[in-house]
Amino acid sequence: MTGSFVFNSLLMNPTTETLTRLHELECSECGQPHSAHQLQLVSECHQMPLVATYDLRERLSRAAAINLADGSMWRYRALLPLLDNQNKVSLGEGFTPLLQLPSLGGRYELASLLLKDEGQNPTGSFKARGLSMAISKAKELGATGCIIPTAGNAGVALAAYCARAGLRAVVAMPRHTPKAFKEACYWYGAEVQLIDGLINDCAAWVRQRNADGQLLDVSTLKEPYRLEGKKTMGYELAEQLNWQLPDVLLYPAGGGTGLIGIWKAFREMQQLGWLAPDAKLPRMVAVQAAACQPLVATYTGRPAGRPTAMLTWAAPPLPTAWPCPAPWASR
Ligand SMILES: Cc1ncc(COP(=O)(O)O)c(C=O)c1O
Ligand SMILES: [Zn+2]
Repeated sequence: MTGSFVFNSLLMNPTTETLTRLHELECSECGQPHSAHQLQLVSECHQMPLVATYDLRERLSRAAAINLADGSMWRYRALLPLLDNQNKVSLGEGFTPLLQLPSLGGRYELASLLLKDEGQNPTGSFKARGLSMAISKAKELGATGCIIPTAGNAGVALAAYCARAGLRAVVAMPRHTPKAFKEACYWYGAEVQLIDGLINDCAAWVRQRNADGQLLDVSTLKEPYRLEGKKTMGYELAEQLNWQLPDVLLYPAGGGTGLIGIWKAFREMQQLGWLAPDAKLPRMVAVQAAACQPLVATYTGRPAGRPTAMLTWAAPPLPTAWPCPAPWASR
């Protein structure tokens, strides 16, 4: 074992070496440290998201850190928060292809336009990355079940990974969610609650249902590890582009976990010396659907607008609250 890796014997299996550089969790508002050895939600000091930090001072080369034989997001194992490999809950998520889109790029006179095809993840979306990580950590730190409010994809991913881990899953989703999402959750064995409303109404139901804290609430940015799964998109982009980054990155943002995670990966790679010191980080663009654009509306000061013909189910009422969690909504 390389001296710079953390040997962690605090958990169940003292004979298993772990190869993570995980250091601790920090409050994203004030930096106050929180233990990475127990289940955590938001910070005690500010009720803000906790962020995992890693010991990146000692040199860690790309060659030593990346397991090329692993065709999933777990190839960046040293920079992920899992302590013991035995707790890994994986369905082969990540390391999705980066596809050239020459026709569409040409239409906009772009020299190069690439698509990271996250639809190829298990359960069909990049929610698989975050939930694989969150459920692995839930298992590692002793949770027996998890609960989530969702617009669809995150619920399916939670149900699948909890099924894989043998944990209980409770999913709250709007009643108008397309049938395929509801059925996938049922078939993975989750307890599904349909809510007459939007995702913020689902979040309110989750808070009430889990008032006793028996289940781990894996709502967006309420626990620290979905972010760590999503950040692997940033590592993959750099690796797939031979450690160059694109000029502009367009991201379909809901709660924004992926956008924040990708940026976190860029900063970590800078600290590790994996990017050229003068490398310019991409301009990050959060894209939202015209039918649901609270971030855009707030940023531009314009009203959120009306749902459009995109909606194929009975149009829900306009959002009356932020669909993303309060800690980030005001920032
Ligand atoms: C397909 C898809 N794209 C984008 C998003 C938004 O993700 P994030 O919470 O990282 O902003 C979601 C979920 O909300 C999703 O399911
Ligand atoms: Zn704080």
